[in-house]
Amino acid sequence: MKLLLLPGDGIGPEVMAEVRRVIATMRLDLEVSEALFGGASIDAHGVPITDEAVAKALASNAVLMGAVGGPTWAGVERSKRPEMGLLRLRKEMQVFANLRPALCFEALAEASPLKKEIVAGLDIMIVRELTGGVYFGEPRGIEKLPSGERRGVDTQVYTTSEIHRVARVAFELARGRRKLVHSAEKSNVMESGLLWREEVTALHKAEFSDVKLEHILADNAAMQLIKDPKQFDVILTDNLFGDILSDEAAMLTGSIGLLPSAALGAPGKAGLYEPVHGSAPDIAGMGIANPLAALLSLVMALRLSLGMTEAADKLAHAIAMTLERGYRTRDLGGSVSTAAMGDAVLMALG
Ligand code: IPM
Ligand code: MG
Repeated sequence: MKLLLLPGDGIGPEVMAEVRRVIATMRLDLEVSEALFGGASIDAHGVPITDEAVAKALASNAVLMGAVGGPTWAGVERSKRPEMGLLRLRKEMQVFANLRPALCFEALAEASPLKKEIVAGLDIMIVRELTGGVYFGEPRGIEKLPSGERRGVDTQVYTTSEIHRVARVAFELARGRRKLVHSAEKSNVMESGLLWREEVTALHKAEFSDVKLEHILADNAAMQLIKDPKQFDVILTDNLFGDILSDEAAMLTGSIGLLPSAALGAPGKAGLYEPVHGSAPDIAGMGIANPLAALLSLVMALRLSLGMTEAADKLAHAIAMTLERGYRTRDLGGSVSTAAMGDAVLMALG
């Protein structure tokens, strides 16, 4: 099995160092390679991801990235920004279903900004469409009008097949969970939202009537996530709403430093795994970033792309144990360093 690591920028390389240590210690039977990504790639090659790195990703079974971007590259021409490298990678790998779990670890319910009873035991899975919608829709651009005014355009667009393939992932996941899917859109305002609702309804009726389907407007979903997050099991939504709702759900759990994600394409195709936290330039280089989101992303990769379920269970257990033993990085109110957190996980692995 081939695993490509893309450490990227900011705290990316720091958390990825712990991933490498865990892979070595667990003696995982993986062919691990690495490539530059994001700002690091811009500095070396002038582009956020090279064609060779994309080819390497496509030839791998799983790609694990750290984080991209930072103020250093804020002035770079838009089409060459670090974020564009990430969008290109998602598009080329055709990873249309982005799984973003929001799980509140027992040991950490106190760390949430919400009351403990609202979040304790929280277990939500957000399924975000990742290769379509307004992120990629055409036309797009900024144009100058004859009047001298400027006009910015983005296009929100979805087709039946794009909706069905991501909805199928959500329904199938729900079957292994609490069998409940909330599909979030703005069908009250948007045509693409109305199509989304109709197509999800049709697919549900045809193939997944054993799962309960609820439709919810995306703004209401944002409110319900704060009010009573435990009412949700799987939330299915588009690229833009998924971007927003997944950040909100992440914060419910106490720290974005704990959340992994997986982006999946057609069965058998390589998955793209990344911690939900960004490059966190404010703490980059200080050795205090939480490596657990990256390690949990490795857990997801082992489970979903690399066929190593046993190793995944073992690592997940070691991470939970590390938290139970009281190890806390700064994002969780403690002062344990990135490397010491890695040490604690290695210790828990035995
Ligand atoms: C995310 C990020 C990205 C997105 C950015 C960095 C392009 O916010 O993965 O949620 O908007 O998808
Ligand atoms: Mg985001």
